[in-house]
Amino acid sequence: MDDLRTKYLEAISSAADEAALEDLRVQAVGKKGEVALQMRELGKMTPEERQVMGPKLNALKDEINAALAAKKSALADAALDERLRTEWLDVTLPSRPRRQGTIHPVSQVTEEVTTILADMGFTVAEGPQIETDWYNFDALNIPAEHPTRTEMDTFYMHRKEGDNRVPHVLRTHTSPVQIRAMQAHGAPIRVIAPGRVYRADYDQTHTPMFHQIEGLAIDRDISMANLKWTLEEFFSAFFEIDGIKTRFRASHFPFTEPSAEVDIQCSWVDGQLRIGEGDDWMEVLGSGMVHPKVLQAGNIDPDQWQGFAFGMGIDRLAMLKYGIPDLRAFFDSDLRWLRHYGFSALDVPSLVSGLSR
Ligand code: DAH
Repeated sequence: MDDLRTKYLEAISSAADEAALEDLRVQAVGKKGEVALQMRELGKMTPEERQVMGPKLNALKDEINAALAAKKSALADAALDERLRTEWLDVTLPSRPRRQGTIHPVSQVTEEVTTILADMGFTVAEGPQIETDWYNFDALNIPAEHPTRTEMDTFYMHRKEGDNRVPHVLRTHTSPVQIRAMQAHGAPIRVIAPGRVYRADYDQTHTPMFHQIEGLAIDRDISMANLKWTLEEFFSAFFEIDGIKTRFRASHFPFTEPSAEVDIQCSWVDGQLRIGEGDDWMEVLGSGMVHPKVLQAGNIDPDQWQGFAFGMGIDRLAMLKYGIPDLRAFFDSDLRWLRHYGFSALDVPSLVSGLSR
């Protein structure tokens, strides 16, 4: 019995892992283990021998079981120590930034522009990007043979309406929304219409799809003076520079009479554009007093009502305000560009908290 004890206690104390321990347990105190075999021998003994040997064997069994349990918990402790030593995490390290989307400059500037003009009482109007000839041209006093139709590099298309193929265009400007808004709401009216427009053109400052915002204000006695005030207020708020001056240059648009192209004050210092100072001018939009025929197309009586309209490029505004040199990059979906020029989704432009932090 002493040999058994020595054999198993030594084996247990040097067992390398739980599997080895389990083998030892089966060999020593399992149902067919060596201690069990000894216990079977008890039957062959005299009652006197049995009285001595029985308790001794039980004690040996208990001793081996206790040694197994002690070794098992020692192995578990060692395993835990080992894990704690090798699996560690430095919680003081800065967390890795999650991949994060940004707001595209066009979306940001659209929000900025709408916020400013909404504050002046304009509401947002919308129209379809696939327009009829009539809304895109005729209603805006651009008859079929008018040169503007070819100048605008129009994308023509057809839409099936019943059995007919009805000619349509991808709208070349946001001006058709003027007509739709007048028809829907009548006068007086003050609306803006931001949105996508299309022309077959592609270079550093032209892309086949770009963005415009249209403005329209009709009332009984609205004049060019109201237009000038509105635009100067708008540009000062947009560029976040007080008192930006505008210059109106006589121009021609079929849908306005008189028509003006509007420049904002700027200067070039070492090739860098500065807006709102100096004595250079930068063209930013087209505008004028809405042509009587256009009012009529919108079912508004030109003898009762008059007003101004303007249209400008949103992408161009974004390029000027945020110093973005190439328009084509706006639509490349290059992640590096988007991360550089994009805005945080949490920086919602507002007149109170600032437009462009
Ligand atoms: N629709 C013109 C364009 O796309 C811009 C424009 C000029 C809009 C004068 C107007 C306006 O409302 O009055 O070039």
